Amino acid sequence: MSTLVGIDIGSHKICTLIGEALPGGGVRVIGMGHAPAVGIRRGEIVHVDDAAGAIAASIERAERVAGVTVRHAVVGISGHHLAGGNNHAVVPIGRRPREVEATDIRRVLETAGAVPLEHGREVMHVLPRFFQLDGGGPVVSPLGMEGYRLEVEVHIVTGATAALSNVRRCLQLAEVIPDSLVFAPLAAAEAALTRDERELGVLLVDLGASLTGLAAYKDGALVHSAVVPVGARHMTNDLGVILQSPLDQAERIKITHGHVLPELDEDDVAIDIVPFGEAERRSTTRRHVSQVLAARADEIARLVMAEIERAELAGLLPAGVVLVGGGTELGGLPRRLYERWGLPVRIGRAADVIGLGDAARGPAHAGAVGLLLWRAREVVDAAGWTVAPAAGRPTADKGGMARVLDWARTAFLPGGGGYRDDRR
Ligand SMILES: Nc1ncnc2c1ncn2[C@@H]1O[C@H](COP(=O)(O)OP(=O)(O)OP(=O)(O)O)[C@@H](O)[C@H]1O
Ligand SMILES: [Mg+2]
Repeated sequence: MSTLVGIDIGSHKICTLIGEALPGGGVRVIGMGHAPAVGIRRGEIVHVDDAAGAIAASIERAERVAGVTVRHAVVGISGHHLAGGNNHAVVPIGRRPREVEATDIRRVLETAGAVPLEHGREVMHVLPRFFQLDGGGPVVSPLGMEGYRLEVEVHIVTGATAALSNVRRCLQLAEVIPDSLVFAPLAAAEAALTRDERELGVLLVDLGASLTGLAAYKDGALVHSAVVPVGARHMTNDLGVILQSPLDQAERIKITHGHVLPELDEDDVAIDIVPFGEAERRSTTRRHVSQVLAARADEIARLVMAEIERAELAGLLPAGVVLVGGGTELGGLPRRLYERWGLPVRIGRAADVIGLGDAARGPAHAGAVGLLLWRAREVVDAAGWTVAPAAGRPTADKGGMARVLDWARTAFLPGGGGYRDDRR
């Protein structure tokens, strides 16, 4: 059985999971390792040696548990430089209709992925949404069908080459070859979303430390992805500023006493704090703490809703919102967000995984588990076909056309236009 490795590079923690694919699409985890995310800020590398050291430490810990050596990994990343957009491509099959072959599918995906980009940006994902033959209805896999014109709609994620190169450099120093770099919320979606949710229309919100990643699915396929530059660490910072306390203490208060429903906090529990610049302790109340946290939660709710509206997805997400990421652990968050958005909200936990303790099955680890599933399920990503491998960048093994042949996602969407990079 082949070994799968996922490394989730966050701004708070780096998590390496080692696992094995199970028949039926799930995974068994056989090793897990964590390291604090040093050298990384807002998802981006700010100190190559420190970040490489942290990545190597998380790998080593996972290796020790699993008893295997890691050489390759699927690597999850985030960053405000990442942006999603949709594109459309058409290729002729022939003057007379004939059967669509694997090379035709490859050709149309390559064409769809070859988008004009600003200098210093590159394509990270080209994910097919659906195909069409001769202008007909949406088709999941056109292989073997007859037609003379093949079209595809794809979702493309692009990133800043400099930021991606820094990640690759760190991985090289940590002596691991990336099979692929994956936008973290897309991996988390593999672990936390059900098939029904993706069909109906759902938004995955990955509330990390510095960033909130978004991935919207409709009719079985990814239709929008984005990054909002605010996360759970902003809540800690707010507490630090307002309570005038060191950040490690603010973080402890947030985790021990924090919640976001101050209106329900009737009991004025006193919380001791040791502020900056004074030896004497003073106290605050839990309600005050929760008011501060709730204000930031509301801001995140507003920014996420603005993004949904900008993507014209308002009213198209009946399955609501699934929350993942460590920030989701904050008490009362699903209820507060439900009240703000008027959409069903649930906490996403990794499904289709065995061998993990309860804590590791929580929302903070959905992204790492999703990286294993990304590989185990051979998610169709044509980026490796459309981007010429940069110098020193290992060529991703896309498993040939087998992945397209096996592609079993239903994807029925209204037609899209030309490529639009959704960055602000
Ligand atoms: N029990 C908890 N209650 C409240 N907040 C929590 C709890 N556990 C973790 N967090 C918060 O979750 C955040 C870390 O989340 P996560 O591990 O998903 O971040 P990351 O993936 O490393 O960061 P990013 O995705 O932004 O790069 C921290 O800010 C932390 O304060
Ligand atoms: Mg994260």
